[in-house]
Order: sequence, then C-alpha cells, then structure tokens
Amino acid sequence: MFDLETFSPKQIVAELDKYIIGQKKAKKAVAIALRNRVRRQKLDATMREEVAPKNIIMIGPTGVGKTEIARRLSKLCGAPFVKVEATKYTEVGYVGRDVESMVRDLMNVAINMVKAELREQVIREAETRTEEAILDILLPVVKSKPQQPHPDQMNQEAIPLIEVVDERTISTREKFRDMLRKGMLEDKEIDVSVSKKMMPSFEIFSGTNFEEMDLNLGGMAGIFGNNKKKKRKMTVRNARDVILNEEIDKLIDTDKAADIARERVQEMGIIFIDEIDKVAGKKSTSGVDVSREGVQRDILPIVEGSKVNTKYGMIDTAHILFIAAGAFHMSKPSDLIPELQGRFPIRVELEALSAEDFERILTQPENALIKQYKELLKTEEVILDFTDDAVKRLSYLAQEVNSKTENIGARRLHTVMEYLLEDVSFEANELAGQTIKITPAYIDEKLGNIIEDQDLSRYIL
Ligand SMILES: Nc1ncnc2c1ncn2[C@@H]1O[C@H](COP(=O)(O)OP(=O)(O)OP(=O)(O)O)[C@@H](O)[C@H]1O
Ligand SMILES: [Mg+2]
Repeated sequence: MFDLETFSPKQIVAELDKYIIGQKKAKKAVAIALRNRVRRQKLDATMREEVAPKNIIMIGPTGVGKTEIARRLSKLCGAPFVKVEATKYTEVGYVGRDVESMVRDLMNVAINMVKAELREQVIREAETRTEEAILDILLPVVKSKPQQPHPDQMNQEAIPLIEVVDERTISTREKFRDMLRKGMLEDKEIDVSVSKKMMPSFEIFSGTNFEEMDLNLGGMAGIFGNNKKKKRKMTVRNARDVILNEEIDKLIDTDKAADIARERVQEMGIIFIDEIDKVAGKKSTSGVDVSREGVQRDILPIVEGSKVNTKYGMIDTAHILFIAAGAFHMSKPSDLIPELQGRFPIRVELEALSAEDFERILTQPENALIKQYKELLKTEEVILDFTDDAVKRLSYLAQEVNSKTENIGARRLHTVMEYLLEDVSFEANELAGQTIKITPAYIDEKLGNIIEDQDLSRYIL
C-alpha cells in the first residue's frame, strides 16, 4: 500500500503515470487535493474545521481516462474510496433512492479496511484458538459430575460439571495436536457449529427502503442473529477457515473498528461521482430534467456537509473529498445548479487522445493492452511480437476510426486489438510454440478493408 502521509504530490503523479498516459493537469489537481488533506490534518482544531476540501470536477471527452484516474487513485491512496454514477439516482424505479447511500457505501468500505487491519493484529491469537477449538471437537473433553455431591444439594442438575483432565487425556491431545500440525487430519470430518444469520420479520421495516433495511438488519444481527448456531459437518481443512473467521470476529472489537472507520471516512474519505454531466441540463420543465435537477439538489447537502446516518453511527460529510467527472458533451458545468458548482471549485480538463498517446497507452502502462494480450497468449505458448512500426500503425488506425466514426478515446484500442488478434486468439492452441510477428503488413491485412469501409468500421470496430 501507498502511504499518503509521506508522498508528495509529485510522487502521487508519478504513481498515476504508471497507468495513465498524459492528462497532467487532472493528475496534478488530484494529487494536490489529496496532499491538502494530509496538510489539513496537521492544523490546529479550529483551523482544521475551517478548511473545506477542494472538490474537483474533471471534464473531458469519453474514454480519455477520467474514470481510470479515479480507479487508480482508489487503489493507491489507502483512503476509503467509493465511485458512484450520478445517473443511478435518476433511474426509473429508483426515484427517491436516497443519495445518502453513497456515504453508507463509503463507510462500509472503511469498515472493511479497518477490519482487515485489525485482523492482522488478532490473527495469531485467533489461530491459536482455532487449533484448540478443533482439538476440542476431535477430542471432546470429558465432563462429569463430581463423584460425591454435597448432601445438601437438592437439585442434582444444578451441580456444576467439572472437567476431568487426566494425564492420558493431555498426552492424547498433544498427539492429536502434532498430527493436526503435520496435516494428517485434514480430511477428517468433524461437526462444527457455525453462526447462522437470522432474517427478522419484515413488517418492522415497512415504509423504509432497501438501503435502510440493510442498515437495520446490520444492527439487529448482533442482537438476535448471531447467537443462532447451527451444526455442520465438514473436513478439518474447511473447518479451519470457518472457525478462524469466527474467532477473528470475536476478537475484533466492532465498536473500536467503527470508531476508526468513522474517523477515517470523515477526515480522509473520497467519493467519486461519475457521469455528473448526465444530471446537468438546461432549465426545463420536462419530467426528466426535473428529476436531474432533483438529483443535484439531493447531492448538494452531502457535498456541502451534512450528517448521514449509517449503521455505524452518524457521519459528518463536511470534509469528505468529492471528485466529479463528466464528458459534458450536451451540457456545460455551468448548467449545474449554482450551489453545486460552488462546491466544486477546481475544474480540470482532460485532453482528447492523439495517435501518439495511443502508442504509449498500448505499450507503457503496467497494464498496457499489448502486455495483457502477450501474457494471455503466453499461457498457450504463443509468443506475440509487436514491431514498433506495428504499434505506430495500429495507433494511427485507431485514431482514424475515431475521427471518421465516433471518438470513443482509448476504448477504441480495445476493439481494434480484439479484432486484430481474433484469429490468433481463436487458433492459439494450434499455434503453440510459434512466434507470431505483428507487423504493419499483418495489421493492414487484418484491418485494412474494414477501416476503409466506414460503414463496416462503424459496426465492427
Ligand atoms: N490516458 C489514458 N492512459 C491509459 N489508458 C487510458 C487513458 N485513457 C483511457 N484509457 C483506457 O481507456 C478505457 C476507458 O477509459 P475511462 O474509463 O477512464 O474513460 P472515461 O474518461 O471515464 O470516459 P467516459 O466519459 O465515457 O466515462 C480504460 O480501459 C482505460 O484504461
Ligand atoms: Mg467514465
């Protein structure tokens, strides 16, 4: 993981450079916004309250890396991060679906992060307990009543059972422990009691939506869900994981996890709102636009800072960083309601990609398409060899198709590559051991006539 605390904006950009070609301005803005939050943490409490996050709108044509920047950011920044599509709140059937769910999702992400970290702290102890638990099942400790019950004791049932542990039991247990550790008991079947989540009755929730229902269910599980145990037969091998997870759950302090997660969401959380342009629109009274503006109005309080109820407690959204993105083909950022515009002070434009960018995108990023195809085919012992000229030619052709039909940015590379390698992919098992050299001539042979025929390329590429 990447430690934001120690990384300068330059280093954050360098990290993004590994995956995204160009788009310097957007990377820089994002890096500054992230760094500012680390800076803010170091201010004294009153000042810290005053510093609002510098929310960002990324504007740029389709397929130039807006979502990709967000996706990479989430992987590298170590802060709780969610990505939502603004349009999902306008979908028919979802009308009135509360936008607050984005905050709840963020909290869930944070909880999982924190739990994963706490897990590291308790795993040793949980493993020890798991071993003991399995031994207990393999060799039930004999419990019996004391030999001579106290004469006053009227109720026999009330006499506590005591564990009778003699030398022999101990040495057998140690023998089993040894066999267990050597993996000799893996296939033995044992009865394990596992928690069974119970579904409480549904009437309680009438009038609430699904999100809240989940919220209530979560809270309720601890009260009467988790206590239900059910016996299941399984091998020692499988039982180990099941028991381990239960032991970990028991050892992790849920309240503590929630506190840490809440703090992290409030101070470092990032919400990426994609497709924001789709909820912007010229003022109009038609139904769709009303609902679009409705979504903006719903989002506004969250972006401005409000309290959202989650199953882990109230979240204050005032310092969550929001990054919005949209192509803004049909609308402009100024079509967003003014209040919302004001909450996104930073605007960055992403540039359309050129043939040269395509060349780099095909080869340079750590997950570059050509690398991916090479690896895929290598699993069938087919070696793909792209000459430099071929990469140039492919990029040029992709750019051609983009300009003649529709500009879908780097997504074009996916369709072009897939088509180019269709035959190789199809026959790879018969080509094992061969090297396929991809040259400009090869490319022209496979793609030439499709690209010349605009109608064809409109359908195929
Ligand atoms: N600058 C870039 N560098 C590397 N890969 C890129 C770049 N731009 C786009 N891609 C690739 O193209 C694909 C689409 O990009 P992305 O999802 O970021 O588009 P977008 O800008 O969000 O478009 P839209 O407005 O349609 O949502 C991704 O698979 C991504 O890997
Ligand atoms: Mg996108």
